Amino acid sequence: MTNPAIQFENVSKKYGSNTVINHLNFTIPADSLVTILGSSGCGKTTTLKMINGLIQPTSGTVSIGGQPLDEWNLIDLRRHIGYVVQQIGLFPHMTIADNIGVVPKMLGWNPTKIQQRVNELLRLVQLEPQQFASRYPSQLSGGQQQRVGVARALAANPPYVLFDEPFGALDALTRLSLQKEIKRIHQTLQNKTFLFVTHDINEALFLGEKVMVMHHGQIEQFATPAEVVNHPATAFVKELLGTVRQNQALWAGDRDE
Ligand SMILES: Nc1ncnc2c1ncn2[C@@H]1O[C@H](COP(=O)(O)OP(=O)(O)OP(=O)(O)O)[C@@H](O)[C@H]1O
Ligand SMILES: [Mg+2]
Repeated sequence: MTNPAIQFENVSKKYGSNTVINHLNFTIPADSLVTILGSSGCGKTTTLKMINGLIQPTSGTVSIGGQPLDEWNLIDLRRHIGYVVQQIGLFPHMTIADNIGVVPKMLGWNPTKIQQRVNELLRLVQLEPQQFASRYPSQLSGGQQQRVGVARALAANPPYVLFDEPFGALDALTRLSLQKEIKRIHQTLQNKTFLFVTHDINEALFLGEKVMVMHHGQIEQFATPAEVVNHPATAFVKELLGTVRQNQALWAGDRDE
């Protein structure tokens, strides 16, 4: 692919005099899986929402597939971009199948094609269609609901999928199994660019082909997990890695008592 999938050129976002994104420049290569890592309030969600047009930058240019955002029709753009968030917001009165089929239905697909697609997606996220298709969201565990959220985001086969801390509320084991799923799904599907926001350093390093470390609306480092671990670019990245080592020291019994 010649077009970079997602490109930020000198992008800033201000609320009044408060600069939350500060001259951001980066290119997410097409078909890659990139994680954005940073602490609360550093601008991760703002960055994602400037990609799907929910937030307008104050200055600079965001381009998708080589085309600046203001040249995109917003409805068309959102059709190209799946979005998975923590509060997944499944419609409680609709079955799992209907929840996953919302966008295809809006796009006017015929019912047979929608049903086939729903079953295919349920299998992709490891939920047996016979068991889950006709259930309601309240009849699923939190982890299963997040799987449905991933399936729903993929329903119309968008080339880009944005994930905003989708597994933040799940227990460690469920979270790990979903991280593995995301990796497998990205490898299975062709021509998909995944951008995954997290404040969990292990999640960012495990999932990302490249990791973008953000701090105060700027990029501290954008590199492979190995480069981040072996050559942290700034004092902030070093400190971040240090917290992981501290945790390890704690549970490894590396204490005086
Ligand atoms: N509508 C708004 N008006 C004013 N300030 C805002 C608005 N939306 C976000 N902010 C501020 O912008 C900064 C970045 O917010 P953002 O939601 O992007 O952070 P985040 O990295 O996603 O944090 P978290 O990990 O807690 O979700 C924060 O300081 C936030 O208070
Ligand atoms: Mg956020």
